[in-house]
Amino acid sequence: MIVIILLCMAQITFVSGSSISEAKALDALLQDYAFRAFVNPKTGVIFDGVVPSHLNGIKIAALRLKSGSLWRRGYEMYKEFEIPMGLVETPSVERLVLVYQNLGNWSTNFYELPNFTCLAPVLGLIAYDGSNLSATNLAALDIRVSGHPILVKFKDVKSAPEGSVAKCVWFDLEGSSDFSNVVNGNTCSISQQGHLSIVVHDFSTAPKRLITVKLIVSTTRASHVSMLKPIQSFVSLKSQLPWEVLVDWKLELQIEQFIPFASTLTKQPAF
Ligand SMILES: *[C@@H]1O[C@H](CO)[C@@H](O)[C@H](O)[C@H]1NC(C)=O
Ligand SMILES: *[C@@H]1O[C@H](CO)[C@@H](O)[C@H](O)[C@H]1NC(C)=O
Ligand SMILES: *[C@@H]1O[C@H](CO)[C@@H](O)[C@H](O)[C@H]1NC(C)=O
Repeated sequence: MIVIILLCMAQITFVSGSSISEAKALDALLQDYAFRAFVNPKTGVIFDGVVPSHLNGIKIAALRLKSGSLWRRGYEMYKEFEIPMGLVETPSVERLVLVYQNLGNWSTNFYELPNFTCLAPVLGLIAYDGSNLSATNLAALDIRVSGHPILVKFKDVKSAPEGSVAKCVWFDLEGSSDFSNVVNGNTCSISQQGHLSIVVHDFSTAPKRLITVKLIVSTTRASHVSMLKPIQSFVSLKSQLPWEVLVDWKLELQIEQFIPFASTLTKQPAF
């Protein structure tokens, strides 16, 4: 029997009140400028937009789709976003516009990540009603996947400093965040719209917390193998936690029952 007890959990929050309102104002402005890219609007075609000159460095695009076709087929590759079939928007509309944002060198001006370093620019994907392409100040639709996730394949991800682990960070439109693992060095999965990037803990400045993990092992074998399994479980659990490098880990092993069998010892692999 193996019991794993996590004695202490770290809480991490991002995006201060003022920067989330600035980020929302930016979303509204970029919706307006992205919609202006539709000079001769064509369904299913990506139109690159032009941002106002005071925001040079940000890239935007707009893509109008029939919601039925989005549901049935998805959209294979919209910039870095691979959109699966089964995307549902609320409220339901006939056509929608997906606005793409790449905040480039402005990323950290709008999405503050204290004690984290971005390894890639912040990208955004937001859905709007596509019935009036002159409309401004549109409220975002809510979109969610119903099957496979949206995959985001970042280009030119900087490599993580040695000893640190890159994580995907995703922000919803209200600024709350969530972490997940990076797949294949550059891919993040999301189930909703919002903004995202790849980050690492800047652990030269971050205070470390001590997390004690207590493994209670009941064993009838006095062997190294009986200890190996709980240690492997611990290592795999540790690698799944986003704040891995923010903490010092202490592993306590407690053996509840110990009945030595001298003969098994000689057969165990080196450990
Ligand atoms: C980003 O780069 C552009 C040039 O490509 C520059 O005009 C702009 O001032 C830069 N923005 C920031 C926040 O550094
Ligand atoms: C589209 O939006 C513009 C700007 O808000 C508005 O002036 C216009 O009346 C709208 N058109 C329709 C058909 O609703
Ligand atoms: C970031 O690191 C500094 C310096 O160690 C620390 O004082 C601060 O509380 C940290 N901020 C967050 C949000 O963790």
